[in-house]
Amino acid sequence: MTTDAVPLTGSSFLSEPARLYREMRRDHGSVTRVLLDGGVPAWLVLGYRELHQVTGDPVLFSRDSDLWNQWDSIPGDWPLLPMIGRKQPSILYTVGERHRQRSAMVSDALEATDPFELRRHAERFADELIDAVCTRGEADLIGQYAMLLPVRVLARLYGFSDEEGPGLVTALNDMVDGQERALAGQSHLVTSMTALVADRKAAPGDDVVSRMLANRSGFTDEEVMQDLMVMLAAGHQPTADWIGNSLRLMLTDDRFAASLFGGRHSVAEAMNEVLWEDTPTQNVAGRWASRDTHLGGRHIRAGDLLLLGLQAANSDPQVRTDGASLTGGNNAHFSFGHGEHRCPFPAQEVAEVIARTSIEVVLDRLPDMDLAVPADALTRRPSPWLRGLTELPVRFTPTPALGGDRP
Ligand code: HEM
Repeated sequence: MTTDAVPLTGSSFLSEPARLYREMRRDHGSVTRVLLDGGVPAWLVLGYRELHQVTGDPVLFSRDSDLWNQWDSIPGDWPLLPMIGRKQPSILYTVGERHRQRSAMVSDALEATDPFELRRHAERFADELIDAVCTRGEADLIGQYAMLLPVRVLARLYGFSDEEGPGLVTALNDMVDGQERALAGQSHLVTSMTALVADRKAAPGDDVVSRMLANRSGFTDEEVMQDLMVMLAAGHQPTADWIGNSLRLMLTDDRFAASLFGGRHSVAEAMNEVLWEDTPTQNVAGRWASRDTHLGGRHIRAGDLLLLGLQAANSDPQVRTDGASLTGGNNAHFSFGHGEHRCPFPAQEVAEVIARTSIEVVLDRLPDMDLAVPADALTRRPSPWLRGLTELPVRFTPTPALGGDRP
């Protein structure tokens, strides 16, 4: 299955993945053979209709990674193991009725979060981070802001202490990017999460962890722990990238220039446009075929791995017939997935509040900010999975810190 396969690594993902997806579709069709790190074969589902088919049929296209027909050739130190794990008993790899119960446990625990309190936490941490840079007249809105914010807020909702935030950020970034520090990152997260679960068992509080431990569906501490790991990893990085990609759009595109001076409506527009055009979660691993089947004219063998090409499907010419915007208030994109394993709705709301609040705070606090480098000098992290900037340097008129006194 390797003859016309495209490597899912390399510099094309740094700059213009949209073009690469268009070329893949043109040359290989809407379901394409790809090669992962180490030449491991998989299918990338690029078509909107095909992706709908895959995510809408969790029995034929299962989340059960044990089905994979490549396990015999996967080395123990394969860098993608934390992402495409075997026998990881988390919500991601659970199927059927047990998955539905698990999804309900996660959704209920998140849904019980008071949206006003969530907004207050997001605002408080955002202000703290801006306080640390506002007197200097320059900042990197990725490294000093977006990458530090969602994890702070999520950690607060889950029950972590604020001091643990930076360590968790580094570990998460290493893990989700699937490079050489991925396994060390995962191990740091497991240790921190295990300690938090033990603490909350001993002294429950009004937080996500305590609510999940109190769930009556009979999940073990280990299972709750695994899901919390997923909720932290799946929650932090894409939300940080949603913030960064939206701020980049607002700073580089004239259509949004006016909103830098207070038009809040455009924040929502920029965020929605990013989900269509520059989505944080570009590709997801994955689904495994539970039997031989056909998809997009391809013969898929039982046990083959299918990767969900969310960005490719969002820009599928079959649904984007005018070649331009389906954006506006339209949210029929695939950026949060689809079907039983999609991002739980309360998680999407949490992400939205964190991202919107953080963008509004930075616009409020640094109203005359401007890019400090030419737009084409901005670079992306080298990952085909999550799309985000390495830096977003801005300049602004220095302003005094608030020190906790938001007007
Ligand atoms: C911009 C922010 C986010 C994006 C783009 C995003 C995207 C996604 C996508 C595409 C999936 C589907 C994966 C699949 O189909 O296999 C997913 C699943 C998931 N997300 Fe999110 N997510 C975001 C934020 C969050 C947040 C803040 C949380 C938690 C607080 C979260 C928790 C989850 C969980 C638990 C799943 C697994 C669902 C399951 O397998 O049943 N996500 N997310």
